[in-house]
Amino acid sequence: MKNITVHDKAFKPYLQKEAIQARILELAAEIDKDYQDKQPLFLAILNGSFIFAADLFKHITIEAEISFIKLASYKGTSSSGNVITAIGLEENLRDRHIILLEDIIDTGKTLHSFLPELIQRQPASIKIATFLTKPEALQYPITADYVGFNIPDKFVLGYGLDYDGLGRNLPELFILDEVAS
Ligand code: IMP
Ligand code: MG
Repeated sequence: MKNITVHDKAFKPYLQKEAIQARILELAAEIDKDYQDKQPLFLAILNGSFIFAADLFKHITIEAEISFIKLASYKGTSSSGNVITAIGLEENLRDRHIILLEDIIDTGKTLHSFLPELIQRQPASIKIATFLTKPEALQYPITADYVGFNIPDKFVLGYGLDYDGLGRNLPELFILDEVAS
């Protein structure tokens, strides 16, 4: 793996694809074990999570469903501030076991704003599986139940994550090279 430039910024290799795939096998095995006989419904949050979702879902061996949603933010009423709603969510979530799939939890704002909307639909349970978290950047009370990797508070791209539209197709993860950028 070598350094790359995307738009105006330099990135250096951070996680090799073998390491990513090995970790995903572990997460899938954990979820398999926790959700036997529960027929979970994975909700993958687009765009960023699509590659993580596909790789993880391939290794789930219990009965499970998956659906893909986009989140859109709109001005909520009164004091609620911005509310995040799901586009493309047609499933009935009542009494279902939901596993949200995210590419990365950064500040936690997106999920924090979306969870009330999800809870309203009365699922049996909600858990969060994320490819990455940046623990130092967290500003909202969000805890992921399944975490691929904890990373430093630096910009990353590849494996579904983009920098201004580019880089999602890289099979490895790259991190901003502050020295070269
Ligand atoms: P949060 O609401 O602050 O947790 O932000 C989550 C979203 O910000 C993710 O789903 C990504 O789309 C984006 N994001 C945060 N950090 C990065 C990064 O390092 N690279 C690419 N996208 C990121
Ligand atoms: Mg995203």
